[in-house]
Amino acid sequence: MEEKPLVGATIVNSNNSDMRESPVRPGSPKRSLREVHLESEAITGLYEKLIEDLRRKIEDPSIDNNILCRDFLAEIYQGNKVDYDRLMNADNTPLPTKVLLASFDPRNITLEPEYYTEVDPQKYYQRKPLIWLWIMFDRSPLGQNLYLGTRLRRLLAGYIFKRCGKNVKIFHGVEFSFGYNLSVGDNVVFHRYSLIDDRGEVIIHDNTSISDYVNVYSHSHSIVDANDVSLGTTEIGPNARVTYHSTVLSGIKIGNEAMVGSFGLVTRNVRPHHVNVGIPAKSVRVKPNACASCDEDCGRRVI
Ligand SMILES: CC(C)(COP(=O)(O)OP(=O)(O)OC[C@H]1O[C@@H](n2cnc3c(N)ncnc32)[C@H](O)[C@@H]1OP(=O)(O)O)[C@@H](O)C(=O)NCCC(=O)NCCS
Repeated sequence: MEEKPLVGATIVNSNNSDMRESPVRPGSPKRSLREVHLESEAITGLYEKLIEDLRRKIEDPSIDNNILCRDFLAEIYQGNKVDYDRLMNADNTPLPTKVLLASFDPRNITLEPEYYTEVDPQKYYQRKPLIWLWIMFDRSPLGQNLYLGTRLRRLLAGYIFKRCGKNVKIFHGVEFSFGYNLSVGDNVVFHRYSLIDDRGEVIIHDNTSISDYVNVYSHSHSIVDANDVSLGTTEIGPNARVTYHSTVLSGIKIGNEAMVGSFGLVTRNVRPHHVNVGIPAKSVRVKPNACASCDEDCGRRVI
Protein backbone atom coordinates (compact mmCIF):
# COMPACT_ATOMS: atom_id res chain seq x y z
CA MET A 1 0.00 0.00 0.00
CA GLU A 2 1.25 3.44 -0.88
CA GLU A 3 2.08 5.64 2.03
CA LYS A 4 -0.46 8.40 2.50
CA PRO A 5 1.26 11.75 1.92
CA LEU A 6 1.29 14.10 4.87
CA VAL A 7 -1.13 16.95 4.42
CA GLY A 8 -1.49 20.18 6.31
CA ALA A 9 0.66 23.16 6.93
CA THR A 10 3.98 23.45 5.09
CA ILE A 11 7.17 25.20 6.05
CA VAL A 12 8.31 27.87 3.65
CA ASN A 13 11.25 30.22 3.44
CA SER A 14 9.31 33.41 2.92
CA ASN A 15 9.77 36.45 5.05
CA ASN A 16 6.26 36.31 6.44
CA SER A 17 6.77 37.20 10.06
CA ASP A 18 3.36 36.32 11.45
CA MET A 19 4.58 33.18 13.14
CA ARG A 20 7.77 34.44 14.62
CA GLU A 21 8.00 35.17 18.25
CA SER A 22 10.56 37.90 18.24
CA PRO A 23 11.79 40.18 15.49
CA VAL A 24 14.90 39.07 13.68
CA ARG A 25 17.48 41.76 14.09
CA PRO A 26 20.33 42.20 11.61
CA GLY A 27 23.08 39.72 12.37
CA SER A 28 20.86 37.52 14.49
CA PRO A 29 20.55 33.99 13.10
CA LYS A 30 18.22 32.84 15.88
CA ARG A 31 14.52 32.23 15.51
CA SER A 32 12.47 30.43 18.10
CA LEU A 33 9.55 29.71 15.77
CA ARG A 34 9.45 28.22 12.31
CA GLU A 35 7.41 29.69 9.52
CA VAL A 36 4.24 27.88 8.64
CA HIS A 37 1.92 28.37 5.68
CA LEU A 38 -1.38 26.64 5.01
CA GLU A 39 -1.40 24.02 2.29
CA SER A 40 -4.43 25.33 0.43
CA GLU A 41 -4.16 28.67 -1.31
CA ALA A 42 -7.91 28.60 -1.79
CA ILE A 43 -8.48 28.50 1.98
CA THR A 44 -5.83 31.16 2.59
CA GLY A 45 -7.71 33.27 0.05
CA LEU A 46 -10.98 32.65 1.90
CA TYR A 47 -9.47 33.86 5.16
CA GLU A 48 -8.02 36.94 3.49
CA LYS A 49 -11.40 37.66 1.91
CA LEU A 50 -13.11 37.40 5.30
CA ILE A 51 -10.64 39.89 6.84
CA GLU A 52 -10.97 42.27 3.90
CA ASP A 53 -14.75 42.01 4.03
CA LEU A 54 -14.72 42.86 7.73
CA ARG A 55 -12.35 45.76 7.14
CA ARG A 56 -14.58 47.13 4.40
CA LYS A 57 -17.68 46.88 6.60
CA ILE A 58 -15.96 48.49 9.60
CA GLU A 59 -14.85 51.37 7.37
CA ASP A 60 -18.29 51.78 5.80
CA PRO A 61 -20.05 54.61 7.68
CA SER A 62 -23.46 53.36 6.53
CA ILE A 63 -23.01 50.08 8.43
CA ASP A 64 -23.78 50.03 12.17
CA ASN A 65 -20.99 48.08 13.87
CA ASN A 66 -23.52 46.61 16.33
CA ILE A 67 -25.34 44.96 13.41
CA LEU A 68 -22.05 43.98 11.80
CA CYS A 69 -20.95 42.25 15.03
CA ARG A 70 -24.38 40.61 15.58
CA ASP A 71 -24.57 39.16 12.08
CA PHE A 72 -20.93 38.04 11.99
CA LEU A 73 -21.27 36.20 15.30
CA ALA A 74 -24.64 34.71 14.38
CA GLU A 75 -23.15 33.28 11.19
CA ILE A 76 -19.97 31.83 12.72
CA TYR A 77 -21.84 30.31 15.66
CA GLN A 78 -24.87 29.03 13.69
CA GLY A 79 -22.79 27.99 10.69
CA ASN A 80 -25.32 29.52 8.34
CA LYS A 81 -26.85 32.76 7.17
CA VAL A 82 -29.23 33.86 9.90
CA ASP A 83 -32.45 35.77 9.33
CA TYR A 84 -32.11 37.50 12.67
CA ASP A 85 -35.39 39.41 12.86
CA ARG A 86 -37.50 36.49 11.61
CA LEU A 87 -36.01 34.07 14.14
CA MET A 88 -36.37 36.57 16.99
CA ASN A 89 -40.04 37.19 16.15
CA ALA A 90 -41.03 33.60 15.33
CA ASP A 91 -43.11 31.78 17.98
CA ASN A 92 -41.41 28.47 17.23
CA THR A 93 -37.84 29.69 17.89
CA PRO A 94 -36.78 28.07 21.17
CA LEU A 95 -36.29 30.54 24.03
CA PRO A 96 -32.60 29.67 24.58
CA THR A 97 -31.98 30.21 20.85
CA LYS A 98 -33.58 33.66 21.09
CA VAL A 99 -31.40 34.49 24.08
CA LEU A 100 -28.31 33.28 22.21
CA LEU A 101 -29.20 35.34 19.15
CA ALA A 102 -29.93 38.40 21.30
CA SER A 103 -26.55 38.15 23.00
CA PHE A 104 -24.71 38.35 19.68
CA ASP A 105 -25.78 42.00 19.58
CA PRO A 106 -23.36 44.10 21.71
CA ARG A 107 -26.26 46.36 22.73
CA ASN A 108 -27.82 43.39 24.56
CA ILE A 109 -24.85 42.48 26.75
CA THR A 110 -22.64 44.28 29.27
CA LEU A 111 -18.91 44.00 29.84
CA GLU A 112 -17.08 44.77 33.07
CA PRO A 113 -15.22 47.91 31.88
CA GLU A 114 -18.45 49.77 31.16
CA TYR A 115 -19.22 49.74 34.90
CA TYR A 116 -16.00 51.57 35.76
CA THR A 117 -16.78 55.17 36.70
CA GLU A 118 -13.85 56.58 34.74
CA VAL A 119 -15.03 55.06 31.46
CA ASP A 120 -15.26 57.50 28.57
CA PRO A 121 -18.64 56.39 27.14
CA GLN A 122 -18.06 57.96 23.77
CA LYS A 123 -14.76 56.18 23.21
CA TYR A 124 -15.93 52.94 24.77
CA TYR A 125 -19.25 52.49 22.99
CA GLN A 126 -17.61 53.32 19.68
CA ARG A 127 -15.34 50.31 20.25
CA LYS A 128 -17.65 47.96 22.13
CA PRO A 129 -19.05 46.17 19.03
CA LEU A 130 -15.53 45.29 17.87
CA ILE A 131 -14.45 44.31 21.40
CA TRP A 132 -17.46 41.96 21.66
CA LEU A 133 -16.74 40.54 18.21
CA TRP A 134 -13.14 39.85 19.34
CA ILE A 135 -14.19 38.21 22.62
CA MET A 136 -16.84 36.02 20.99
CA PHE A 137 -14.65 35.11 18.01
CA ASP A 138 -12.08 33.79 20.49
CA ARG A 139 -14.73 31.57 22.09
CA SER A 140 -16.23 30.40 18.81
CA PRO A 141 -15.26 27.26 16.83
CA LEU A 142 -12.83 29.54 14.97
CA GLY A 143 -11.15 30.90 18.07
CA GLN A 144 -8.15 28.54 18.12
CA ASN A 145 -7.42 28.98 14.42
CA LEU A 146 -4.14 30.82 14.90
CA TYR A 147 -3.62 31.62 11.24
CA LEU A 148 -6.97 33.36 10.92
CA GLY A 149 -7.13 34.63 14.49
CA THR A 150 -3.85 36.56 14.50
CA ARG A 151 -4.96 38.36 11.34
CA LEU A 152 -8.44 39.10 12.60
CA ARG A 153 -7.23 40.40 15.98
CA ARG A 154 -4.61 42.56 14.28
CA LEU A 155 -7.35 44.12 12.18
CA LEU A 156 -9.59 44.77 15.20
CA ALA A 157 -6.72 46.07 17.35
CA GLY A 158 -6.14 48.80 14.76
CA TYR A 159 -9.63 50.14 15.45
CA ILE A 160 -9.75 49.48 19.20
CA PHE A 161 -6.33 50.42 20.61
CA LYS A 162 -5.12 53.97 21.05
CA ARG A 163 -2.23 52.98 18.82
CA CYS A 164 -1.35 49.68 17.21
CA GLY A 165 2.00 49.34 15.46
CA LYS A 166 3.03 47.11 12.59
CA ASN A 167 3.16 43.33 12.74
CA VAL A 168 1.54 43.03 16.16
CA LYS A 169 0.65 39.41 16.98
CA ILE A 170 -2.11 38.55 19.42
CA PHE A 171 -2.91 34.97 20.42
CA HIS A 172 -6.33 33.83 21.64
CA GLY A 173 -7.79 34.65 25.04
CA VAL A 174 -6.04 38.01 25.41
CA GLU A 175 -8.15 40.58 27.28
CA PHE A 176 -7.95 44.31 27.83
CA SER A 177 -10.20 46.83 29.58
CA PHE A 178 -11.02 49.88 27.44
CA GLY A 179 -8.60 49.42 24.56
CA TYR A 180 -8.53 53.18 23.97
CA ASN A 181 -5.85 53.65 26.67
CA LEU A 182 -3.56 51.00 25.23
CA SER A 183 -0.67 51.93 22.92
CA VAL A 184 1.22 49.11 21.25
CA GLY A 185 4.42 49.43 19.23
CA ASP A 186 5.71 47.44 16.25
CA ASN A 187 6.33 43.67 16.53
CA VAL A 188 4.76 43.37 19.96
CA VAL A 189 3.47 39.88 20.82
CA PHE A 190 0.69 39.12 23.29
CA HIS A 191 0.64 35.45 24.19
CA ARG A 192 -2.34 33.37 25.32
CA TYR A 193 -4.60 34.64 28.07
CA SER A 194 -2.61 37.72 28.93
CA LEU A 195 -4.63 40.53 30.53
CA ILE A 196 -3.83 44.15 29.78
CA ASP A 197 -5.81 46.37 32.09
CA ASP A 198 -5.78 49.81 30.47
CA ARG A 199 -8.09 51.54 32.97
CA GLY A 200 -5.25 54.01 33.42
CA GLU A 201 -2.78 53.93 30.55
CA VAL A 202 -0.62 51.12 29.22
CA ILE A 203 2.19 51.69 26.73
CA ILE A 204 3.95 48.66 25.26
CA HIS A 205 6.92 49.67 23.16
CA ASP A 206 8.35 47.99 20.05
CA ASN A 207 9.54 44.38 20.03
CA THR A 208 8.18 43.56 23.46
CA SER A 209 6.77 40.15 24.36
CA ILE A 210 3.99 39.63 26.88
CA SER A 211 3.89 35.91 27.72
CA ASP A 212 1.03 33.56 28.54
CA TYR A 213 -1.13 34.51 31.53
CA VAL A 214 0.73 37.76 32.21
CA ASN A 215 -1.30 40.52 33.89
CA VAL A 216 -0.42 44.16 33.31
CA TYR A 217 -2.33 46.67 35.43
CA SER A 218 -2.75 50.43 35.35
CA HIS A 219 -5.13 50.88 38.26
CA SER A 220 -5.02 50.09 41.95
CA HIS A 221 -7.36 50.38 44.94
CA SER A 222 -6.72 52.08 48.27
CA ILE A 223 -6.13 49.56 51.06
CA VAL A 224 -8.64 51.50 53.19
CA ASP A 225 -11.39 52.18 50.69
CA ALA A 226 -11.78 49.79 47.74
CA ASN A 227 -13.80 52.44 45.91
CA ASP A 228 -10.81 54.78 45.95
CA VAL A 229 -9.19 53.84 42.63
CA SER A 230 -6.00 55.43 41.40
CA LEU A 231 -4.96 55.26 37.78
CA GLY A 232 -1.37 54.98 36.63
CA THR A 233 0.66 54.78 33.46
CA THR A 234 2.41 51.45 33.01
CA GLU A 235 5.14 51.31 30.40
CA ILE A 236 7.00 48.27 29.09
CA GLY A 237 9.91 48.04 26.66
CA PRO A 238 11.12 48.42 24.02
CA ASN A 239 12.60 44.95 23.52
CA ALA A 240 11.40 43.76 26.92
CA ARG A 241 10.07 40.34 27.89
CA VAL A 242 7.53 39.80 30.61
CA THR A 243 7.48 36.04 30.97
CA TYR A 244 4.66 33.69 31.81
CA HIS A 245 2.34 34.17 34.77
CA SER A 246 3.94 37.44 35.88
CA THR A 247 2.00 40.43 37.15
CA VAL A 248 3.02 44.04 36.57
CA LEU A 249 1.42 46.52 38.97
CA SER A 250 0.07 49.92 38.04
CA GLY A 251 2.53 52.72 37.29
CA ILE A 252 5.54 50.45 36.75
CA LYS A 253 8.18 51.06 34.09
CA ILE A 254 10.00 48.09 32.63
CA GLY A 255 13.01 49.30 30.68
CA ASN A 256 14.63 48.60 27.35
CA GLU A 257 15.72 44.93 26.96
CA ALA A 258 14.60 44.18 30.51
CA MET A 259 13.08 40.85 31.49
CA VAL A 260 10.73 39.64 34.20
CA GLY A 261 11.16 35.97 35.18
CA SER A 262 8.16 33.67 35.25
CA PHE A 263 5.69 34.22 38.12
CA GLY A 264 7.32 37.54 39.01
CA LEU A 265 5.33 40.24 40.79
CA VAL A 266 6.66 43.56 39.57
CA THR A 267 6.17 46.18 42.29
CA ARG A 268 9.19 48.38 41.42
CA ASN A 269 10.56 49.61 38.10
CA VAL A 270 12.79 47.18 36.22
CA ARG A 271 15.97 48.80 34.97
CA PRO A 272 17.00 48.42 31.33
CA HIS A 273 18.77 45.07 30.64
CA HIS A 274 18.04 43.77 34.12
CA VAL A 275 16.42 40.41 34.78
CA ASN A 276 14.06 40.71 37.74
CA VAL A 277 12.49 37.65 39.36
CA GLY A 278 10.40 36.70 42.35
CA ILE A 279 7.75 38.22 44.60
CA PRO A 280 8.44 41.10 44.74
CA ALA A 281 10.56 40.96 41.57
CA LYS A 282 14.20 41.91 42.17
CA SER A 283 17.18 42.05 39.86
CA VAL A 284 19.19 38.82 39.79
CA ARG A 285 21.38 39.71 36.84
CA VAL A 286 22.16 42.17 34.08
CA LYS A 287 22.03 40.85 30.54
CA PRO A 288 25.50 40.49 29.02
CA ASN A 289 24.42 42.36 25.89
CA ALA A 290 23.81 45.64 27.74
CA CYS A 291 25.55 48.45 25.90
CA ALA A 292 26.60 52.06 26.39
CA SER A 293 24.23 53.38 23.76
CA CYS A 294 21.19 52.17 25.67
CA ASP A 295 19.93 53.89 28.78
CA GLU A 296 22.19 55.56 31.30
CA ASP A 297 21.63 52.94 33.94
CA CYS A 298 22.11 49.94 31.68
CA GLY A 299 24.84 48.65 33.94
CA ARG A 300 27.12 46.84 31.53
CA ARG A 301 28.79 47.21 28.16
CA VAL A 302 29.18 44.75 25.35
CA ILE A 303 32.70 43.35 25.48
C1 LIG B 1 14.32 34.81 34.47
C2 LIG B 1 15.01 33.57 33.98
C3 LIG B 1 15.34 33.74 32.50
C4 LIG B 1 16.28 33.46 34.81
O1 LIG B 1 17.15 32.58 34.19
P1 LIG B 1 18.74 32.65 34.52
O2 LIG B 1 19.30 33.96 34.09
O3 LIG B 1 19.31 31.43 33.89
O4 LIG B 1 18.83 32.65 36.07
P2 LIG B 1 19.22 31.49 37.04
O5 LIG B 1 18.45 30.25 36.70
O6 LIG B 1 20.70 31.40 37.09
O7 LIG B 1 18.67 32.04 38.42
C5 LIG B 1 19.24 33.07 39.18
C6 LIG B 1 18.57 33.05 40.55
O8 LIG B 1 17.22 33.52 40.39
C7 LIG B 1 16.29 32.47 40.77
N1 LIG B 1 15.23 32.47 39.78
C8 LIG B 1 15.33 32.26 38.44
N2 LIG B 1 14.16 32.38 37.87
C9 LIG B 1 13.27 32.69 38.83
C10 LIG B 1 11.89 32.97 38.83
N3 LIG B 1 11.19 32.97 37.71
N4 LIG B 1 11.31 33.28 40.02
C11 LIG B 1 12.03 33.28 41.17
N5 LIG B 1 13.35 33.04 41.21
C12 LIG B 1 13.96 32.74 40.06
C13 LIG B 1 17.10 31.19 40.74
O9 LIG B 1 16.59 30.23 41.62
C14 LIG B 1 18.46 31.68 41.16
O10 LIG B 1 18.48 31.87 42.53
P3 LIG B 1 19.75 31.43 43.43
O11 LIG B 1 20.88 32.24 42.90
O12 LIG B 1 19.34 31.75 44.82
O13 LIG B 1 19.92 29.97 43.17
C15 LIG B 1 14.14 32.31 34.07
O14 LIG B 1 14.06 31.81 35.35
C16 LIG B 1 12.72 32.54 33.63
O15 LIG B 1 11.85 32.94 34.39
N6 LIG B 1 12.50 32.24 32.38
C17 LIG B 1 11.19 32.44 31.77
C18 LIG B 1 11.13 31.61 30.54
C19 LIG B 1 10.87 32.45 29.32
O16 LIG B 1 11.76 32.96 28.70
N7 LIG B 1 9.62 32.58 28.96
C20 LIG B 1 9.23 33.31 27.81
C21 LIG B 1 8.03 32.66 27.25
S1 LIG B 1 7.42 33.48 25.89
